[in-house]
Amino acid sequence: MKVVDLFCGAGGFSTGAMMAGCRVIWAANHWQLAVMTHSANHPETAHVCQDLHQANWLNIPDHDLLLASPACQGHSRARGKDRPHHDACRSTAWAVVSCAEVKRPRFILVENVPEFFHWKLFKVWKEALKQLGYRINENVFNAVNFGVPQDRARAFIFCSLDQEHCLKSSFKPFRPASEIVDFSVGRWSPINKPGRAEATLKQIQNGRIIHGERFLVAYYGNERNGRSLSKPIGTITTRDRFAIVDKDRMRMLSVSEAKRAMGFPDDYKLPQNKRLAMHFLGNAVCPPVAADLIAQIKTLAKQSF
Ligand SMILES: C[S@@+](CC[C@H](N)C(=O)[O-])C[C@H]1O[C@@H](n2cnc3c(N)ncnc32)[C@H](O)[C@@H]1O
Repeated sequence: MKVVDLFCGAGGFSTGAMMAGCRVIWAANHWQLAVMTHSANHPETAHVCQDLHQANWLNIPDHDLLLASPACQGHSRARGKDRPHHDACRSTAWAVVSCAEVKRPRFILVENVPEFFHWKLFKVWKEALKQLGYRINENVFNAVNFGVPQDRARAFIFCSLDQEHCLKSSFKPFRPASEIVDFSVGRWSPINKPGRAEATLKQIQNGRIIHGERFLVAYYGNERNGRSLSKPIGTITTRDRFAIVDKDRMRMLSVSEAKRAMGFPDDYKLPQNKRLAMHFLGNAVCPPVAADLIAQIKTLAKQSF
């Protein structure tokens, strides 16, 4: 099955497609570093660095499955007050419609945050795809059910030129965050050091009572009591937000650990700069989730039109 990946980022969606046995023939992003990172991991794919609002869809190859993760910052609850650049982010979703109008791939799979369904133009966007002949199947799937040790709910909108098909969640056993943490590595620092924020110390104090000596601390959220390592980790975002507590020491989650939390292969190449690597990981589709859903689409594709 030939696949095209719009807004390819570092390549979570594409990696899932490869895991499902597909060929990712074309991928695009407007950020050179994203294209370079994607290309380092997917050398067989043709890459284009461009603003997809400006794309000439006649130049992209025919494909069976269009993957797209339009920019989610405009929808995400984490965005804070709504601002004009959020409208610009949200408008990236229209690239899916214009590509579909020109290329008419048999299947389209769009990923975004669940708030995408509350976009004031969502119904119109969906109607535009319907006018092009697509049947639409809307889902929210959580990566925890796909064998990924992370609580990550995402919208997956499946469009098909056949009759309406439904994608299904997997129901694999939950995997604990303890599986991704390596206590023998990393730069640890003492918990009681000058400058540690009061709120962090309070969270650690509460966490100790509930979880014992080892647990996770989450920044930028509502976590007050730390988080057990026996549960999946919370959502990995573009900000470095989880720390690991081990007795009297602590450190931030490493890039390797975040990669495992997302279900990327250990040898997946990311920028050396931690902030950039975490940005790409936090934006990505979990490859095992993508692989499962795309495998379902491959099975549907074998059925006749
Ligand atoms: C949610 S991320 C995609 C993640 C990717 N699917 C993955 O699994 O790794 C959205 C991407 O869209 C890119 N982007 C945002 N606006 C764009 C535009 N107008 N044209 C092309 N790419 C854009 C961003 O740089 C970002 O990498």
